[in-house]
Amino acid sequence: MKKQLSAKKIMKLANSLEKVYYYDTIDSTNDEAKRLINTFSGNFLVIASHQTKGRGRWNRNFFSPGGSGLYFSLVLRPAIPTEKCALVTVAAAVAVAEEVEKFSGKRADIKWVNDIYVGGKKCVGILTESIFEKDKPLSIIVGVGINLTTSDFPDEIKEKAGNIGEVDRNAMVAAICDKIACFVENIEEKKFMNEYVRRCFLLGKDVTVYDKIVDKIYTAKAQEIDEEGRLVVACNGERLVLSSEEVSLSVSKF
Ligand code: BTN
Repeated sequence: MKKQLSAKKIMKLANSLEKVYYYDTIDSTNDEAKRLINTFSGNFLVIASHQTKGRGRWNRNFFSPGGSGLYFSLVLRPAIPTEKCALVTVAAAVAVAEEVEKFSGKRADIKWVNDIYVGGKKCVGILTESIFEKDKPLSIIVGVGINLTTSDFPDEIKEKAGNIGEVDRNAMVAAICDKIACFVENIEEKKFMNEYVRRCFLLGKDVTVYDKIVDKIYTAKAQEIDEEGRLVVACNGERLVLSSEEVSLSVSKF
């Protein structure tokens, strides 16, 4: 059954995982990953059929109804300098976009920094969280939520949300985990960067920027992605380098 999630099957298919924890229902797989983080020292996956408190960036809700989506958190322990953590999000976006495209047969684009769009609709959200603890190796939690057949979206997201259709669930999750782990292991090589830029549909477009630090909204033209995965925009003749921790973006035309 390709629709039935199985910890055993994922474990068998994914080389990068040392353990898989499956739940029918959980509050948030990222939160469960945090609770489990010190019980095991290797790479592991937390996956659920349903989340009651799925979280997105800026503590927004991530709609996670039972059975119609994939909700999982990959925990990695990479030997990378902390300043490279932001690149993990970029690497994860490429890994997810490539595998979503391969398994669904539909083109997957990236909205900076880590939303995946299929057919002009947001179908995937990624939430990366880093855990730094004194005298412990760095842990990174890459949380991925994918709408497979979800269609009954709440009013506030129904205009922009979509789904990718049914896929071989266990095989796609395993392939995504292996690709993220491989990119992160070789993060210095930045092999995912060209592909990120190629799939990033904001470049060349006018975007509305909300700067959360100074609580300001302005419009700008998206120009390029720099080596650290930041977005470079032009605003009133000025070149601004935006970090995903500080701003959120919207675009009027896909
Ligand atoms: C976003 O759209 O801002 C990111 C959404 C990330 C959702 C995934 S679902 C699995 C994992 N658990 C969570 O609570 N969030 C992430």
